[in-house]
Amino acid sequence: MEMVLFIGIQGSGKSWFYKERFQGTHVRISRDVLRTAARERDLMQTCFRNAQSFILDNTNVKRQQRAEYIELAKTAGCRVIGYFFEATPREAIARNQRRSAKERVPIPGILRTYKQLQKPALSEGFEELYSVRLRPLPSPEGDCAVSVSRIESDDA
Ligand SMILES: Nc1ncnc2c1ncn2[C@@H]1O[C@H](COP(=O)(O)OP(=O)(O)OP(=O)(O)O)[C@@H](O)[C@H]1O
Ligand SMILES: [Mg+2]
Repeated sequence: MEMVLFIGIQGSGKSWFYKERFQGTHVRISRDVLRTAARERDLMQTCFRNAQSFILDNTNVKRQQRAEYIELAKTAGCRVIGYFFEATPREAIARNQRRSAKERVPIPGILRTYKQLQKPALSEGFEELYSVRLRPLPSPEGDCAVSVSRIESDDA
């Protein structure tokens, strides 16, 4: 059983990546969907009880937020994997503009989250940590190519 923690500002591609890589195997836990911390906690506990792997599809930009999730996972005997979506605010805003009006988030919110971003480090307790970059492809649909690389140490 593993808990996959996504870290990245709004529009960095987290939910897209979930659909690409994890939809068939991991339950998606999103605060936007569940609305409250209590319901989120409840679903996490259900996953732990059933040895069901899940991903946390929130921005998770603050180290303290991550520490709380990591502590719960470790207590439940769960592996912890991190994916850091390294979009610049400019890239995230451009992608946000392509969203439908309903999905679009306010630009000041993206910038605020970027200011709060504390880069994840292996020393926080990740068994594995990856960096994800989406590169735009020259197509009218605005498709992206994704590259994932493993972060081997906290030195860089
Ligand atoms: N690889 C891709 N190819 C094409 N479009 C993409 C790709 N990745 C993301 N997008 C588009 O970019 C937009 C933002 O991506 P996504 O919704 O995954 O961001 P997010 O990190 O989940 O943001 P939020 O934190 O606001 O939920 C979406 O409208 C999505 O359709
Ligand atoms: Mg999302």
